[in-house]
Amino acid sequence: MLNIAVCVSGGGTNLQAIIDAIRDGRIKNAKIAGVFSNNRNAYALTRAKEAGIETKTACPKEFSSREEFHKAFLEAIDSWKPDLVVLAGFLVILPEELIRRYEGRIINIHPSLIPSFCGTGFYGLKVHEEALRRGVKVTGATVHFVDEGTDTGRIIAQKAVEVLPGDTPEILQRRVMEEAEWVLLPRAIDDIANGRL
Ligand code: GRF
Repeated sequence: MLNIAVCVSGGGTNLQAIIDAIRDGRIKNAKIAGVFSNNRNAYALTRAKEAGIETKTACPKEFSSREEFHKAFLEAIDSWKPDLVVLAGFLVILPEELIRRYEGRIINIHPSLIPSFCGTGFYGLKVHEEALRRGVKVTGATVHFVDEGTDTGRIIAQKAVEVLPGDTPEILQRRVMEEAEWVLLPRAIDDIANGRL
């Protein structure tokens, strides 16, 4: 059984996609041991609690230093002894120690086809704003392993999504989530849990 820790900062629709996929058997041999957030008000935490999953939070501004926050963050993750750490809309730069300790066992979902629209500053709606500004006709999502860089780790899976006339960043974001993110992330976890990756 693959033990998963999920890190979230916001709405948690990707977390929900994982919870649903475990429930209905699209992800086999895996369970979510805990959900961590840097944001106490993240709706993702409500989703976790409703699913009976343990949650832990630590907010950087409540600590006297970045090191103290990192310590609390690492302690929370370690407490679940995860085989896999999933970043599902997590807006915190990971401490190097965590990246080292869980090397090859951290994955992230990014809402574009890497290497387009990724790296520092490309998060949330900004990714889709830039895709529309550039006028691409196809965008999508990427699941990748996490290394020390920003969105530079080995790519696991990608799915393309069409950009349509009249798209706003919000409309495009929703389509990328529905057609790509919520499909790709559970599938990648199932692949890892069942030795296909
Ligand atoms: C998603 O677009 C994900 O790709 C990005 O942040 C967003 C999180 O959405 N990394 P949610 O919190 O899962 O609803």
